Amino acid sequence: MEGYHLSPLHAKTLHSITPTVLCEKLPDGPAFTGYRANFHADCPERGPFHPDLTDQERRSDVFYCIYPSFVVGFCPHFTLYMCIRPLSADSVGVRWGVTGVPANPQAEEVLQYVRFCKAFCDEDRAQLERLQIGLHSPSHRLGPLAPDDYEGTVWDLVQYMARRLGQAANERDPSIGAGEVQ
Ligand SMILES: [Fe+2]
Repeated sequence: MEGYHLSPLHAKTLHSITPTVLCEKLPDGPAFTGYRANFHADCPERGPFHPDLTDQERRSDVFYCIYPSFVVGFCPHFTLYMCIRPLSADSVGVRWGVTGVPANPQAEEVLQYVRFCKAFCDEDRAQLERLQIGLHSPSHRLGPLAPDDYEGTVWDLVQYMARRLGQAANERDPSIGAGEVQ
């Protein structure tokens, strides 16, 4: 749910369409965060799309996360959704799909986009599995976040977790004032 990884991790798939450098953080709220991934100038339009879309909406994907883990990607031609749920402390289950498709879901353009989604999800999975191993290393150290347009959504998610975890801690200890994050 951030644009920072698009170019380095998805070099073979998404980088040529929505490179990291063109990503923009979008307004967030108490229950959501999002960003816009603008198309590279060399990327052709991805249609068919609704005629009411603005020029920018025709040339960008908008991703929103409804906390904690429901992600929707509004693309000009299709909408991608992904529901991630914890299965254990170190594993998740993912249910995803494509909606807003033409009347025939077996149309070649739909199947082609689904294949594309599977390709970049495989890239994410491979990297996340390596990350999971790395996080268990005793030499693992936290690093700074990239600027807001690239990793602002990560900051928003961390703030959401702090609000929820702080709230739970406050409920256990009435001496802690409401809204204080411990
Ligand atoms: Fe990804």
